[in-house]
Amino acid sequence: MLGSGFIARFYADSLAAQRRKDVLVSVYSRSMERAEKFAKDYGLPHFSNSLTEVVENPDVDVVVIALSNDLHLGAVEACAKAGKHVLCTKPLGRTGEEAKKMLEMVEKAGIMGGYLEDLCYTPKFLKSLNSVKAGSIGRVLWAKSRETHPGPHSDWFWNMEQSGGGAIVDLGCHCIEISRNFIGKDIKPVEVMCWAATQVHPIAAEDHAIGLVKYANGVIGQFEVSWCFRGGMDLRDEVMGSEGTIWLNNFLRTGFEMFSTGKGTNYVAEKAESSSGWLFPVGDEVHELGYSHMFTDMFESIEQKREPLESFYDGYVVNCIIDAAYRSAKSRNWEHVQLDDWRGRTDVTEGHEFASYDDQFYLIKEEILPNGEKKLILKDKKTGAVERRDL
Ligand SMILES: NC(=O)c1ccc[n+]([C@@H]2O[C@H](COP(=O)([O-])OP(=O)(O)OC[C@H]3O[C@@H](n4cnc5c(N)ncnc54)[C@H](O)[C@@H]3O)[C@@H](O)[C@H]2O)c1
Repeated sequence: MLGSGFIARFYADSLAAQRRKDVLVSVYSRSMERAEKFAKDYGLPHFSNSLTEVVENPDVDVVVIALSNDLHLGAVEACAKAGKHVLCTKPLGRTGEEAKKMLEMVEKAGIMGGYLEDLCYTPKFLKSLNSVKAGSIGRVLWAKSRETHPGPHSDWFWNMEQSGGGAIVDLGCHCIEISRNFIGKDIKPVEVMCWAATQVHPIAAEDHAIGLVKYANGVIGQFEVSWCFRGGMDLRDEVMGSEGTIWLNNFLRTGFEMFSTGKGTNYVAEKAESSSGWLFPVGDEVHELGYSHMFTDMFESIEQKREPLESFYDGYVVNCIIDAAYRSAKSRNWEHVQLDDWRGRTDVTEGHEFASYDDQFYLIKEEILPNGEKKLILKDKKTGAVERRDL
């Protein structure tokens, strides 16, 4: 484990949970004191303040990168050099250029590069993705994802040099990959329109943004991200299909509501702002946030020599979309997504499929009125005339 901070502990909690067979053997932290504390808390036999010592430890088969964004590239380089499989937290890079370097390094070294995008592994997400793939909501038309909270917990997030940006790179990476999964990872993201602003915090980066990502088949992905939201962490997804709809609420409103006067103050859930009043705890955060399924997929893909559901390539595509979002926020125009390495379909166009009523008409709408009358709205395929037909 490289890093001993917030996400390293979430990962360790997940790896230590439920009698898992995967074992944490070593941790790196800048500070020997924190490395030792982490090792003690999770029962690790080894800890060090030397990153290479941990990566090169012969007991280590797989390295997990849980460091600030500016340190991902160097850590991947160390893993490639040592020939150790590497799982990197999100965002993969601060830019598409950095992510591409990491992708090339793991591919050249012949090691597995897993992208730790936990929100694409939540039980709710996995089940809804299966429904989408089974055609239960028809053609996906729009996939929206929102992550907003009151702002990150460590200083480096607020420093653009270390983080690579604000809410877009920090939270948008989750939302973009969620939409990409629903829309289809083989469909090329083509262009991005993004609004971004610094509304509350005295920082150089954006603390609030909304973006539209247009895909080659004409489908729209939407992200809404903020470090200004008050009231906890709001994680919601919405998918609109030609035959159905999915609404997902991953945090805050999960069906667990509790009231407390504040006595016996305790941790409630990630970024919960209060421990009194009406609260929205989360039963098993590491499971409900996707960490359990994520690590299972990662380790099984290493054993089975297959790609994980979320790979370095996915991290690279996400970074390229984010780059376009930053360009758009500046130019105020739609900006092209520059993907030098596109591995998906190239034969996709913005096709329109209209439902036929019969050979002569399209069916626009079928309606039942409050008095029980039924009617159809039809369009003549040749003349374009729209007409009503009572049933
Ligand atoms: N849901 C998620 O997947 C999720 C959630 C939170 C954070 N993250 C990601 O995890 C990574 C770490 O974030 P965090 O929340 O754990 O932050 P954190 O500040 O709690 O921990 C960061 C770790 O990096 C170390 N670090 C920072 N600067 C360093 C330096 N110059 N040299 C050596 N070590 C240094 C810190 O000591 C600490 O161990 C980031 O890339 C972040 O985007 C992912």
